[in-house]
Amino acid sequence: MTNKYCSVKPALNAGLRQVFIETYGCQMNVNDSEVVLSILQPHGYSLCNSIKEADLILINTCSIRDNAEQRIWGRLDIFRLEKKKRKGVVVGILGCMAERLKEDLLNHTAVDIVAGPDSYRELPQLIASLTGGGKQINTILSQEETYADISPVRMDKNGVSSYISIMRGCNNMCTYCVVPYVRGAERSRDPKSIVKEAEELFGNGYREVTLLGQNVDSYNWVNPENPTEKTDFARLLEMVALIDPKLRVRFSTSHPKDMGDSVLYTMAMYPNICKHVHLPVQSGSDAVLAKMNRKYTRESYLRRVAKIREVLPDCSISTDIITGFCGESEEDHLETLSIMREVGYYTAYMFQYSERPNTKAARHYPDDVPAEVKSRRLSEVIQVHGEISLASNQKDLGKVFEVLVEGYSKRSKAELTGRSSQNKVVVFPAGNHKVGDYVNVKIERCTPATLIGTEIIK
Ligand code: 5AD
Ligand code: SF4
Repeated sequence: MTNKYCSVKPALNAGLRQVFIETYGCQMNVNDSEVVLSILQPHGYSLCNSIKEADLILINTCSIRDNAEQRIWGRLDIFRLEKKKRKGVVVGILGCMAERLKEDLLNHTAVDIVAGPDSYRELPQLIASLTGGGKQINTILSQEETYADISPVRMDKNGVSSYISIMRGCNNMCTYCVVPYVRGAERSRDPKSIVKEAEELFGNGYREVTLLGQNVDSYNWVNPENPTEKTDFARLLEMVALIDPKLRVRFSTSHPKDMGDSVLYTMAMYPNICKHVHLPVQSGSDAVLAKMNRKYTRESYLRRVAKIREVLPDCSISTDIITGFCGESEEDHLETLSIMREVGYYTAYMFQYSERPNTKAARHYPDDVPAEVKSRRLSEVIQVHGEISLASNQKDLGKVFEVLVEGYSKRSKAELTGRSSQNKVVVFPAGNHKVGDYVNVKIERCTPATLIGTEIIK
């Protein structure tokens, strides 16, 4: 992971220990790594750029699909070699895979510490206890932990957009998903601490925050001192939007069964709440949705989409799709392709079903779609994705979007890149602009993934 916090060379750094943190999985995990760094810094750790410099190597892991876990086993073999070369290096495994596999990971020769997502406050203690010999593990899940009081040390690259975790855990119990088992029960973070974190980011030059939760629509904070005082997600969005009109607010992930109209009306009221909803559909077939325990139907999903379009005509919608879930027939698959076309997603994250041990699907439904059928269906989903994202971008030709600049384009320093409120990537000639500026760009060309245009002065 690259970072800007490791400017001090180890030789000048007497007394400081170097920690290297490698992060896999979702944005919430990236945010958790920032919380971990914040916990370790007062204990004399500073972040470094390479495992070769590190006294402590931490790997923050993901369990969502088997291939995510396989990559991490591969990394542990590399860390074992590093430990052989340099005595005293400590390796800790954090996050969802630590929670899922517990002692099985501790038994790996490279691993000294296993810490689940709710035990990061214990890390300094776990590290200190290693001096007595042996390995250390803490995978206790909590009903309360939200790390609300911890200011994450930002490791993001652009200094413009950042992420704030507003809740932890998940209560949904989708039958394919490991998250409720590895992240525990859902709990909401105190809104005052969220607003304070967003204000600090704005004060430090950030211009965009994304509020993160497994299901943001079920955010509900109840004041423990006064249980009649409650904050729901629509109110939280408003509180963050009111910090400053120049602070963009995004959020992810919305659940189609829970996304209420009040969130849509709040989005409509504040221009700085970005007009983008990530609304995972997973499948277009009612039979598959029921087996996944998604608690909505194709029809009720489409009604949600129609409501979004009615209240927010310029809102973009993205989604997640799983191909080859247990019992998925060819007709079910065709329904997924058709709902993609019907909604016209501007983008989608697309996966083959991967059976996760101990989930309801693993316990009750045979993983019976052959691997080659899963992958053929995934290619067809990807093909439709290419068509509909291009069509979505073509609709934007000639329109003007306010773009928040995030950096230079990959191709040239003469071009800047940023995103529109709809979360589409926009590239345009740099002129005198810099990272963090808002620029009005008229769209002239597009690819399936990018809008290309030039600045216009309104
Ligand atoms: N197999 C494949 N994809 C999965 N996802 C979650 N669990 C699985 C699984 N077992 C996908 C879903 C979810 C996204 C984060 O990952 O689409 O929305
Ligand atoms: Fe994030 Fe889910 Fe992976 Fe955990 S398992 S890191 S919550 S995507």
